[in-house]
Amino acid sequence: MTEETKQNAEKSLMDELGFNEAEIVRRRAFLELGDDDIQELVSIRKIAQEYADPVLEAFYKHLLSFDETRAFFQNPKLLEHVKQAQKAYFAGLTEGAYDKDYIEDRLKIGAIHERIGLPVKAYMGMYNFYLRNVANYLFEEYKNEPGKALRAYLSLLKVVFLDIGLAIDTYISRREQLIGKQREAMRELPTQEALSMRGGVVGYQLPPLHASHLEVTTGDLLIFATDGISSDFAMRLSPWDPMLRHQPVQEIADRILARFGKLTDDALVLVIRYLGSAP
Ligand code: HEM
Repeated sequence: MTEETKQNAEKSLMDELGFNEAEIVRRRAFLELGDDDIQELVSIRKIAQEYADPVLEAFYKHLLSFDETRAFFQNPKLLEHVKQAQKAYFAGLTEGAYDKDYIEDRLKIGAIHERIGLPVKAYMGMYNFYLRNVANYLFEEYKNEPGKALRAYLSLLKVVFLDIGLAIDTYISRREQLIGKQREAMRELPTQEALSMRGGVVGYQLPPLHASHLEVTTGDLLIFATDGISSDFAMRLSPWDPMLRHQPVQEIADRILARFGKLTDDALVLVIRYLGSAP
């Protein structure tokens, strides 16, 4: 990916989720992620570098001990690549810059996990695992200053929740897009609707008349049939049948009569193709 295409992809992810500077400020304000937190986080940066490797080791020991999470890492090269990327990701938590670039990066990572079909429960479970491990290191490091450990940990939680919120928003946005696309595709599919049957004998016993309304759009096919045509004919006609889509209406009527006519009764088939309103 060229630098320009990469930037466009990231930009569109920010656009997709309606992200701008104001939204970033609002998210941070809602989490009460302020300058004090940034100071706390930057103050543990060195310790974070020290616990990075052992925490990641424990992280993978746990992740690889479950079939459903191990399945994502069949390729050892991918495992090595992701380990390195995660190390940089976790380091980012204590770097103190939770700005536009940071948000873009986090959205991109959310989108990657959504693309590979990582269940949210696996993502959340591993984040929880990570946080529990980090808590142990922090409280051990500051065992004589538990207040300091708690402050740093609570600040870390704010950034982590910022990240989790971004990842989940990416999941939701991508799923909504998918649902939208599926709806559009379904609208393109041919469907069948039936008007209710009316009993009676033509010219002798007229049943009470009821108006039925059916919306039609250009290309729709309307078929009326009397009881000399087998009553399940509409169910046995597939809306995908090329005959219904392409043949002249006279031929369709003839074929329905030939295929579904009862032979013991007279029958009428009326086929109308709606060509749209006149210009
Ligand atoms: C705390 C939770 C997690 C974090 C912070 C995280 C972070 C990351 C990062 C930074 C990348 C690299 C993205 C890139 O290449 O730019 C990545 C990729 C990946 N992650 Fe995660 N991850 C988490 C949980 C998981 C879990 C639980 C699994 C699987 C069980 C997983 C599977 C993967 C895979 C397979 C990739 C590579 C995707 C690809 O490039 O095709 N991740 N993750």
